[in-house]
Amino acid sequence: MIVIAGSPRKGMYSDRIAERFARLTGSKIIYARNLHIGPCRACGYCKGIGNGTCVQKDDMPSVLESVRTSDGIALISPVYWWQVTAQIKLVIDRLYALRDGELRGKKLAVIMNGEAEESDAEYRILSEQFSEMAEYLGMKYSFLGCGTPEGDEAAFAAALEKLDGFAAIVQE
Ligand SMILES: Cc1cc2nc3c(=O)[nH]c(=O)nc-3n(C[C@H](O)[C@H](O)[C@H](O)COP(=O)(O)O)c2cc1C
Repeated sequence: MIVIAGSPRKGMYSDRIAERFARLTGSKIIYARNLHIGPCRACGYCKGIGNGTCVQKDDMPSVLESVRTSDGIALISPVYWWQVTAQIKLVIDRLYALRDGELRGKKLAVIMNGEAEESDAEYRILSEQFSEMAEYLGMKYSFLGCGTPEGDEAAFAAALEKLDGFAAIVQE
């Protein structure tokens, strides 16, 4: 899989989750914060003469190549206002350049971590939203919500334990 880590904070919770998940699944990590990725312009180039390539000359082509050559995508993001971070959203929107059906049959694993505890509605809302997207794209979907209150290492250790089980499920 290709792991796309969406936190702006280097070495913090999402990075630690992403790095452990990548190790467990033998995946490469892309840190979205390190890339220059512009917002989708909805110009239609990719669906026309671009034929699966984007008109923007930035770092997205290498992400698209990694997605095309892997068996799935893992998106790992902090919850920002009940949503993914802007860094991850830029990547998601630019996946639009892929040709129809290119994601069919691949995995979509989403891990969201927030200050809120895991029973909070935000994880359910995010899980349902990505579930609809995965169904539309024909992807094999899995979701994990992790409550990672700032400075609470015990809660983080519990989240990591769940992560190990989740990584095993994603690999099945
Ligand atoms: C702009 C912003 C918005 C946030 N919104 C939420 C939120 O809606 N729900 C939540 O549980 N945590 C929210 N948080 C907290 C982060 O999700 C939480 O601290 C997370 O663990 C940070 O991940 P990181 O350590 O990888 O940066 C927010 C943090 C920021 C900076």
